Amino acid sequence: MRLEAPAYAFRPVAAADLPLLARWLAEPHVAEWWHGDGLAEIRAAIADPSTEPFLVEFGGEPIGYIQHYAPHLEDGHPYRDQPDGTLGIDQFIGPPDLVGRGHGSCFVTAFVEELFRRGAPRVVTDPDPSNPRAIRAYEKAGFVRLGFRDTIFGRVLLMARDARKDDRAKPLYRGLSHRNGSIERSWPDATAPETGRSSYKQA
Ligand SMILES: CC(C)(COP(=O)(O)OP(=O)(O)OC[C@H]1O[C@@H](n2cnc3c(N)ncnc32)[C@H](O)[C@@H]1OP(=O)(O)O)[C@@H](O)C(=O)NCCC(=O)NCCS
Repeated sequence: MRLEAPAYAFRPVAAADLPLLARWLAEPHVAEWWHGDGLAEIRAAIADPSTEPFLVEFGGEPIGYIQHYAPHLEDGHPYRDQPDGTLGIDQFIGPPDLVGRGHGSCFVTAFVEELFRRGAPRVVTDPDPSNPRAIRAYEKAGFVRLGFRDTIFGRVLLMARDARKDDRAKPLYRGLSHRNGSIERSWPDATAPETGRSSYKQA
């Protein structure tokens, strides 16, 4: 009998997570590409209605950070020209030994599909143009390049993935798992009981 369990979960960040996030932000592979006020910004996001911060868990263990934000709720945000309801995302993997193993493209895919299911028509992300690993990971997660933008953090490559018509009706995402070093996607079939679970914060 084949047993499946959701591999990635997204848990709202709590104050108790801040020391772990501080350690991750100090890792060179994160510090190189994570621009802005670091921990202060994440702490502020916990209370900010336009930004939702999450810990990414894999197999129950925290492995990274992801947040979504609503450009249309922020005065003067450079992405307010995007379609109404667009959400932006930012993310990183904390433990250095987990980078470059397929996690990023997979949990970004899972998170974005959850945002589509909840009604977002488009999700954007904006890596540094000189961060080819991030750009490649986002392309693997279905993002396309929209073009360069100048922001308060410098020049970025704005990338987008659009929801398809049937994305809102999709069954709950069931998970991804690492097997023999490769990543396997699993989806519920039409007859399976709905045991798919997401710890994504309710809107
Ligand atoms: C960005 C990040 C989330 C991506 O997650 P990840 O698990 O490392 O990415 P994946 O393993 O899914 O995909 C990386 C891809 O980039 C490729 N890659 C790695 N280094 C590369 C380089 N220098 N040039 C081109 N491609 C590169 C990998 O080969 C892989 O592509 P492939 O599967 O086609 O071979 C993660 O690397 C990270 O947290 N980095 C540090 C912080 C950061 O950059 N955050 C992003 C801010 S926008």
